[in-house]
Amino acid sequence: MNLKIALLGGDGIGPEVLAQAVKCLRAIEETFNHQFTYKEAPVGAVAISNDGKALPKETLQLCKDSDAVLFGAIGELEYDNNPEARIRPEQGLLKLRKELGLFASIRPVKVFPILAKNSVLPEKIITGTDFVIYRELTGGIYYGEKTLSEDGTVASDLCEYSEKEISRIAHLAFKAAKKRRGRLTLVDKANVLETSRLWRKVVTEISDSYPEVHFECLFIDNIVVQLMTNPTQFDVILTENMFGDILTSQGSVVIGSMGLLPSASVGNENAMFSPFHGSYPQAKGKNIANPVASIFSTVLMLQHFGLYEEANAVAAAIQKSFIKKVTTTDILGSGKYGTDYVGDFIAANIVDADEDPNINDENIGLGRSTII
Ligand code: IPM
Ligand code: MN
Repeated sequence: MNLKIALLGGDGIGPEVLAQAVKCLRAIEETFNHQFTYKEAPVGAVAISNDGKALPKETLQLCKDSDAVLFGAIGELEYDNNPEARIRPEQGLLKLRKELGLFASIRPVKVFPILAKNSVLPEKIITGTDFVIYRELTGGIYYGEKTLSEDGTVASDLCEYSEKEISRIAHLAFKAAKKRRGRLTLVDKANVLETSRLWRKVVTEISDSYPEVHFECLFIDNIVVQLMTNPTQFDVILTENMFGDILTSQGSVVIGSMGLLPSASVGNENAMFSPFHGSYPQAKGKNIANPVASIFSTVLMLQHFGLYEEANAVAAAIQKSFIKKVTTTDILGSGKYGTDYVGDFIAANIVDADEDPNINDENIGLGRSTII
């Protein structure tokens, strides 16, 4: 298969984790005879420092002309610490989502049994956790009108949703639930918010067309507790933009590390794949960031194009890195490898997939792996 892939490394650790994902895609090309072409473009703080725009026209055009976008991360401390900055890196990502029509962010949260001890929660609570969050991505409070009074003392953000915006992602989520364990949880704050009541009405009506899916609603302040005490009860979680942002971060902590999980943001014409995590500017250039979430985003990309065997090959190589303890320091307190090394290991194991993951543990443990 030929694929044109736009690479948007962005800020902080984005470029370095994305580089590891590209290594793995090159390994896939080599092993399965595909031809992917890669083009890089700036977005975020890097782009602002080039020419004052968080999403340059050329970057947007490149994304539109590509089959898929692989995204790193966005955000820099100088902006986080300066609420007065008018142009902000995050605006680049928000505009990109809107312009590409990426209305659904699909964020799977599945515990890796071998890493279960990495969670802050007891292993018995998280064992078996396997849910996917369908987060609405181009509406709600992120995109509503923003105001700040002239004297700078009163601000507002409008949260608006239309029936159409709700129903298109709801159908995707119900279809996913049908293929999975047949359970869908809508998360809202319908006891307080008008937009949430509209979500409840629209999604409840749609649920009639999916009688095989068990449908329930939970308030956001309830599910944050349920996720800590009984995460295995969930299958598909559907929610609006900001609740989805918060819940997906919580989900990654439930399973053990921000550095492990990927997301697919999709619309009718475009698709973008990226880690859940942020730009972690403190770690930039230190070769300590966990590249697994970024590499995992290629699994979602390959699945998106129907390349299941290839997706499995990447997933198996990631699994092997866990078995061999070739991990960064955020994992099990014992990981001692750098970003680059973990990326090289996973890429090498895609090419050389046949090796039994249970041999040579000793050498790997001593850092004397001959695989690289
Ligand atoms: C995410 C991120 C973004 C969001 C930021 C970087 C704008 O946190 O994708 O979860 O809030 O959507
Ligand atoms: Mn987030």
